[in-house]
Amino acid sequence: MPTADASVRLSDVHKAYGTVQAVRGVDLAIRPGETVALLGPNGAGKSTTIDLVLGLARPDAGQVRVLGEQPDDAVRNGRVGGMLQTGTLIEHLTVGELVRMVASLYPRPRPVDEVLELTATAPLAGRDTTKLSGGQTQRVRFALALVGDPDLLVLDEPTAALDVEGRRDFWSAMRAVAGSGKTVVFATHYLEEADAYADRIVLLAGGRVAADGTANEIRARVGGRSIRATLPGADLAALRELPGVSSVDRRGDAVVLACTDSDAALRRLLDRYPTARDVEVRSAGLEEAFLELTTGDAVAPSMDEVRP
Ligand SMILES: Nc1ncnc2c1ncn2[C@@H]1O[C@H](COP(=O)(O)OP(=O)(O)OP(=O)(O)O)[C@@H](O)[C@H]1O
Ligand SMILES: [Mg+2]
Repeated sequence: MPTADASVRLSDVHKAYGTVQAVRGVDLAIRPGETVALLGPNGAGKSTTIDLVLGLARPDAGQVRVLGEQPDDAVRNGRVGGMLQTGTLIEHLTVGELVRMVASLYPRPRPVDEVLELTATAPLAGRDTTKLSGGQTQRVRFALALVGDPDLLVLDEPTAALDVEGRRDFWSAMRAVAGSGKTVVFATHYLEEADAYADRIVLLAGGRVAADGTANEIRARVGGRSIRATLPGADLAALRELPGVSSVDRRGDAVVLACTDSDAALRRLLDRYPTARDVEVRSAGLEEAFLELTTGDAVAPSMDEVRP
């Protein structure tokens, strides 16, 4: 994708804080209209990546372009809405006054009432910004990110402090925003949210992109299916010899066969063990993929890679 066509492009971006290499060579291109989840464990580099996109941090090496511009130019031109992981609201204002004030800073803001409605903050409009719960504060911060009607929304753990209903409201508002053709990038720890709401998942670990694709593509990366069957008294060593089986586990009366070729394994299993019952074939879930791709030596930061 040519640079001009991407909403966000990071090219071999590195960013260190002192001796900590927070981002270590990230390449990423996000197309206009895409909703992308940055998924990864604590310390993976999600917030750092978001700070780079919002122009709040500068890369030590590599390039970041946002809507074809330098990040701070894109932000200054009101084309980007951001919501950081932490942040307080300006005090001694009501929620309504604050949203109106922020709207006035943008060249083409969305109608304030519409934004209050969309973010379920209308009932809080008359409330002082210091008198809000954590989840309410987060909704107001979402309203502030939306009110400039940005082409690109960048949200760091937008649902972290929200209860179940708050989450549902948030995602329904988000769907409306994404449906109107905006580009959305959000960081999350929640696999279900990434799976349910993102067109694409960028899995970060140790400051690198560990996987990039749809949830199904990422599941497929760890490949493998498992077969579970009730087979009392089975000889595990014999099961391990079946074609397409990589390991075997006993769970009470059942056995679980991790497979490299579940079709071949299943055929032979049923042929050789006609008493096997309750047979299930499962593909690896997103959670297995997440754990396999984000843990281990492949992604652990090593000191010799720390750049000066
Ligand atoms: N201002 C800073 N000073 C020093 N180190 C930092 C700073 N910000 C981030 N780091 C370090 O950089 C690494 C990446 O941090 P980052 O905040 O980007 O991770 P994250 O994926 O957002 O994690 P979390 O899920 O906990 O929010 C971590 O090792 C973190 O300790
Ligand atoms: Mg973070």
